[in-house]
Amino acid sequence: MQSSSTSAAPESELVLRCTGLHRHLGQGDARVHVLRGVSFEARRGQVYAIVGPSGCGKSTLLYLLGLLDRPDEGRIEINGRLMSNDDDAARTAARGAHIGFVFQFHFLMLEFTALENVMMPMLKQGRLTGPEMEARAHALLGAVGLGAKTGRLGTQLSGGEQQRVAVARALANQPTVLLADEPTGNLDVKNSGLVFDLLTQLAREHGQAVILVTHNPDLAARCDVTRAMRDGLFV
Ligand SMILES: Nc1ncnc2c1ncn2[C@@H]1O[C@H](COP(=O)(O)OP(=O)(O)O)[C@@H](O)[C@H]1O
Ligand SMILES: [Mg+2]
Repeated sequence: MQSSSTSAAPESELVLRCTGLHRHLGQGDARVHVLRGVSFEARRGQVYAIVGPSGCGKSTLLYLLGLLDRPDEGRIEINGRLMSNDDDAARTAARGAHIGFVFQFHFLMLEFTALENVMMPMLKQGRLTGPEMEARAHALLGAVGLGAKTGRLGTQLSGGEQQRVAVARALANQPTVLLADEPTGNLDVKNSGLVFDLLTQLAREHGQAVILVTHNPDLAARCDVTRAMRDGLFV
């Protein structure tokens, strides 16, 4: 579906808004104007695909939206609160509370179990008791079809299974926004479809907004809204 699609529920709650984002990267002669005034809105329960050629600024945008980096100009509001200009400590706290990430390479701690990996964001957040965290991690791993493998070390899981653990981990703190940077880019077709389905179904069920960077046109077509990027701008 294209951005003109009418299937997106326009009335659902706005959870993320960025306006006029600019970002330069690199030093001196190598300094590049990577984002050149990007504006974007995301609503609860909606899945957004961001597509565009390599180097157009997709990952840079996701880093900004995930509060991992700060824009040189522009603003990012999450749940109506301006967050992009906060200092590192405040953005780190906001990220833990509001943002879930799934990267192309899962970045699991392979020497820990699936259960421990999913519990880690909850431990950092410190809101649940030990048994509550464990129960939630079990439930999330069950939802991604790994209920029987919660005690497996990362090294004892296949690539597709590791990425499903990464999806469960991203949902651990019930984030407002789920950001996924080519989350299926490293998977075969079957696992790619499986991870995409899990990501989008779970997010829809839990009312998250999903912003997904993908090179896969079939997956983009299954999102509610597709936005194409080129040279640091949406086209
Ligand atoms: N640290 C950096 N220093 C200089 N240029 C960078 C840096 N990081 C990314 N870039 C440049 O920014 C542009 C956008 O990168 P990126 O956001 O990773 O693109 P995409 O994810 O769309 O492939 C590219 O031209 C890349 O070379
Ligand atoms: Mg990228």
